[in-house]
Amino acid sequence: MSFRAWAPGRVNLIGEHTDYTGGYVMPMAIQLGTTVSFEPGGSSLEFTSDADVDAGWTRYADAVVDVVRPTVGGRGRVTTTLPIGAGLSSSAALEVAVALAVGFEGSPLELATACQEAEHRASGVPCGIMDQLAAAAGVSGHALLIDCSSLAVTPVPLPKDVEVVVVHSGQARTLAGSAYAERRAQCEQAAAIVGPLRDASLADVERIADPVVRARARHVVTENARVLSFAQAENISAAGELMIESHTSLRDDFEVSTPALNDLFARLRHVRDVFGVRITGAGFGGCLVALCRPGALDRFDAPAKWRVEPSDGAYVES
Ligand code: GLA
Repeated sequence: MSFRAWAPGRVNLIGEHTDYTGGYVMPMAIQLGTTVSFEPGGSSLEFTSDADVDAGWTRYADAVVDVVRPTVGGRGRVTTTLPIGAGLSSSAALEVAVALAVGFEGSPLELATACQEAEHRASGVPCGIMDQLAAAAGVSGHALLIDCSSLAVTPVPLPKDVEVVVVHSGQARTLAGSAYAERRAQCEQAAAIVGPLRDASLADVERIADPVVRARARHVVTENARVLSFAQAENISAAGELMIESHTSLRDDFEVSTPALNDLFARLRHVRDVFGVRITGAGFGGCLVALCRPGALDRFDAPAKWRVEPSDGAYVES
C-alpha cells in the first residue's frame, strides 16, 4: 500500500546560533513542506523528484538511508512547496520526510537526531538540532521553545492577531557552510574559557581576551536571554523589540548579516504595523522574518515573501 510522508519547513522566530551551544531557540514548523509519496516493494530503494526540488537533494536522501538503515525497499517521489535554499530548512524537511517514508520509528526527538546526523554527513555543516526538531515536533498554532541542553520542547501559542512573514533579500546564501563552522568553532573557543555559554554571564564574557571570540560569545549570551524574554513577552511590541535586538546582535557581534539583509531590515523595520524583524536561519544571505499585524506587508515590494503559519510536525498518511 502506498502512503505519503510529509515534513514541514521551519522559520525561527528568535534564538539564532544558540542551538549548537546548548542554548535556547524558538522556531515554528510552517505549512510549507516536503512530501515523499512512497510505494513499498522490492529490495532496493529509489527516489525521484519533480523539478522544484534542489538538484543536490539526493545526497540528503542517501544520507538518511545510511543513518536509518531501513529494511524495506520501494520507490519514493519527492515534491515540495518550500523555496529551496531560502533559509526555511528545506533540507531538514526532506530528511525528516524521507526518514518517515523508509519506516523510521521513534520519538520526534529520535527522528530529529537521526536527521541531524544525516545533515552532517550530507552537507558537512555541523548544524545544531533546531531545524530537524522543529520539523519533527511542530504544533499547530504554536512556536516551540526548545532548550537545546535538555532538548525539552515547550509549545508557546502564537497570538491570533499577528502574522509571521518571511521576506527574501534576493541574495542567495553564500559561504554558509564554512562560515557556519567557523562561528561554531569560535563559540567552542569561548566556552573553553568561560564554561558553557548557556550558563555564562556578560561579566564572564568580558574575561575573553580575543575581541572576535568575545563578540561571538556576547551574541550567544544575550540571545539566550532574548529567547526567554520573547517566550514570556507581555505584548507584541515587546516581542518585536527583542527581534530587532537579535538582528543587531547577529549583525554586529556574530557578523552573519550581509548588506542586502541589512538594507531589507532597514526598510522593513519602519513599515507601519511591523513589530519586529530579524535574520532567520544561519544568515549570510537568505531571508528575514517579520512579526506584524495581518496584512501589514501585503503590498511590501520584495524579491519573494511568504506568509507562514505555525503548523504540526511531520506525519505519515495513507
Ligand atoms: C542553521 C542550522 C541550525 C542553527 C541555525 C542558526 O539553520 O541548521 O542548527 O544553528 O543555522 O541558528
